[in-house]
Amino acid sequence: MSEKVRSTWNTRAGFLLAAIGSAIGLGNIWRFPYIAYKNGGGAFLIPYAVAVLVVGIPLLILEQGIGNLYRASQPMAFAKIRKKFEVFGWWPVVMVMFGIMLFYTVVLGWCINYLVFSIDLSWGADTEAFFHNSFLGITSGPFDFGGLHYGVLLGTFLVWVLVWFISTRGVRRGLELANKIAIPLLVVLMVIMMVWNLFLDGSGAGIATFLRPDASRLTDPAVWTDAFSQVFFSLSVALGIMYAYASYLGPRAAIVNNSWITAAANSSFSIFAGMVVFATLGTMAHATGVPITEVVKGGPGLAFVIYPKAISLLPFGSRIFAVLFFLSLLLAGITSAISILESFVCSAIDKFKASRMKVVTLTCVVGFFGSMIFTTGAGLYWLDIVDYFIMNFGLLTVGLIEAVIIAWIFGVEKLGKSVNAGSSWKVGRVWRYLLKYATPMVLVVLLVIAVVDNFKKPYGGYSWTALTIIGVGWIVMTILLSIFISKRRRVEGEEDHMAQLGDEGVTIND
Ligand code: PFF
Repeated sequence: MSEKVRSTWNTRAGFLLAAIGSAIGLGNIWRFPYIAYKNGGGAFLIPYAVAVLVVGIPLLILEQGIGNLYRASQPMAFAKIRKKFEVFGWWPVVMVMFGIMLFYTVVLGWCINYLVFSIDLSWGADTEAFFHNSFLGITSGPFDFGGLHYGVLLGTFLVWVLVWFISTRGVRRGLELANKIAIPLLVVLMVIMMVWNLFLDGSGAGIATFLRPDASRLTDPAVWTDAFSQVFFSLSVALGIMYAYASYLGPRAAIVNNSWITAAANSSFSIFAGMVVFATLGTMAHATGVPITEVVKGGPGLAFVIYPKAISLLPFGSRIFAVLFFLSLLLAGITSAISILESFVCSAIDKFKASRMKVVTLTCVVGFFGSMIFTTGAGLYWLDIVDYFIMNFGLLTVGLIEAVIIAWIFGVEKLGKSVNAGSSWKVGRVWRYLLKYATPMVLVVLLVIAVVDNFKKPYGGYSWTALTIIGVGWIVMTILLSIFISKRRRVEGEEDHMAQLGDEGVTIND
């Protein structure tokens, strides 16, 4: 009898690069530097490290451990634990694919456009007006769509084609190869930017602004909640991704070691990215005389408004520097985007046993059309609302559900034994306590804070109608879709995770 078994990574380094590539994304470059700076600079590293240890690594070990133990995607692993849990496995996978992915690709589409703009620094002197008016054509509010923007649409289309191409090539020749190229290249580009900065006046002062420890901030609870949410989002947990990636490892992989390495690489990259970003902002402060503290922002405002301005003000080589920066964003983001797609694709193949080519193609076509709403003049509002709701309500709830199902029902002792079996670094009692008590508690606190904040003041000054229809509506839609998919019958038969032409399937003959 010949049985086709699940595809696997070619090397352990390939898996690690892919997990790290998923964790390192736009969030490390445009979110971490600002969050760290705002919350005490160097002193923020304390709550941040605590959050990595208390929530980040325990959850990474949980997700990689279960994915590897069952060699299955999150929905299928949950279904194997108990049939009725399948839906809780689908929810994160659907939410990230038909929520986060739809706008993440649009932001990467902006990056492609800005890469082209870098050639002649088309954003000019008023980078804010350029980004908001000329490029995005932002309208007056979330329900004023103002038509599609073809540059953005084309960029988004190219991103979907790229992720489609990588994903159809399968685990080894697609995901693994893409990460093996992109991640080292990303690091090289960032190092070049850093060295370049160091030759310019003001960069040292910029880095000092970023790292200056302000220990008095540590007593502010908001600093701690920011640290926990940053770690939670940055490590790509609660998205089904780590299950899928670890399911392509051989049986009894070194889960504990791998999780620590993933977290350490991601945090180091974040801190380094913070230094690069602030070094460049420092050179701008030096050139304009306006202190960094008055201009710094996070999110799209940092990457597409402040940073382009800083780049234009560089004394030489602005264009090349601009290319380096937007290429870095694109590389960091693409490796995360393919991991998001894989979370869904792996789950759908596990359940329906369809070919990878069919699943990826259908998902990407639907995804591209879904992305279109974010390419309209109201796109930035939708992005902001959907992002906020999924991050603050969706993912936190998903993390809580998974911690309860695995730590309490499946059994944290059982999981501990399983992950220790293949690892030279072991987990023990502390990890079990963290996963059983600390992680759920932290997630409940973050959720309660998000709810209370919203009742006090609706998020972002949007109307309740907009928040309910777009934010709550989006989450409800993902829940309904997850229920629908989990109710379909599972197709029996062999799995087909490889590209149709893939050569990576291992065939066992017996
Ligand atoms: N961890 C990646 C980042 O920080 O950009 C990818 C990612 C994770 C994006 C989770 C979005 C998200 F909600």
